[in-house]
Amino acid sequence: MSKEIIIETKGLTRTFELGEVKVNALRGIDLNVSRGEFLVILGPSGSGKTTLLNCLGGIDSPSEGKITVEGNDIGSYNENRLSEYRRNKVGWIFQFFNLIPSLTAAENVALALEMAGDKKDMMDRSREALSLVGIPDKANMFPSQLSGGEQQRVAIARALVKRPRIVLADEPTGNLDWVTGQKIAELMRDLNRKEGITFIVVSHDISITDVADRVIHLMDGQISTQKFNGPRTKKVMEE
Ligand SMILES: Nc1ncnc2c1ncn2[C@@H]1O[C@H](COP(=O)(O)OP(=O)(O)OP(=O)(O)O)[C@@H](O)[C@H]1O
Ligand SMILES: [Mg+2]
Repeated sequence: MSKEIIIETKGLTRTFELGEVKVNALRGIDLNVSRGEFLVILGPSGSGKTTLLNCLGGIDSPSEGKITVEGNDIGSYNENRLSEYRRNKVGWIFQFFNLIPSLTAAENVALALEMAGDKKDMMDRSREALSLVGIPDKANMFPSQLSGGEQQRVAIARALVKRPRIVLADEPTGNLDWVTGQKIAELMRDLNRKEGITFIVVSHDISITDVADRVIHLMDGQISTQKFNGPRTKKVMEE
């Protein structure tokens, strides 16, 4: 793994104020993520996992502390630059695939390009992304015609079609059965290796922690433990 740091957080703090009540969702996170790393974040409900991903993805901003991505302090970005960062630099994968039911698989993927105003060869690039995730033959199907695993592949293609360097995933296998979850874990690991994309994945799924380079535990808004896995020789699926 390369030692180049792609994301660095220093003292990352996020406090939500609800009237009189303060919720300290993140309490001083210092985290370096290497380019090309596959990082998994574990932690109990309410420990701050989604809040951390949202801050890293520029959807939410820290109350205190700093986030540097590829050497740039994203807290210093103006609204335009931040919006460009959100749209083009980061791909998202969610537990519920959030596909649009009235659009085909290819159209769902293309929508990500359309929204970014990046329409050149949009449908070809969308079909390419569907090939990358192993379902080139499903391009013209609607989400309701696809299995859960296939729907998540479409969602992964949608996250990748803009060629982001960073993918943020929040419980990407949380809505899939175990075997399908393993296949999705294997797919993400392959994309991480082949495409050099940095993955930061929130998951309780053992098949994902198995393929991680590093597993971090969040507890009450802080990093409680972290463990680096050895060189990745393990295969997710024993064939
Ligand atoms: N927009 C918000 N307004 C107020 N409080 C919030 C907001 N978002 C998160 N919180 C609070 O911050 C804390 C951390 O929430 P977060 O969603 O990051 O947890 P999580 O680790 O992702 O949990 P889960 O595993 O259930 O998804 C929780 O106490 C939550 O209620
Ligand atoms: Mg969450």
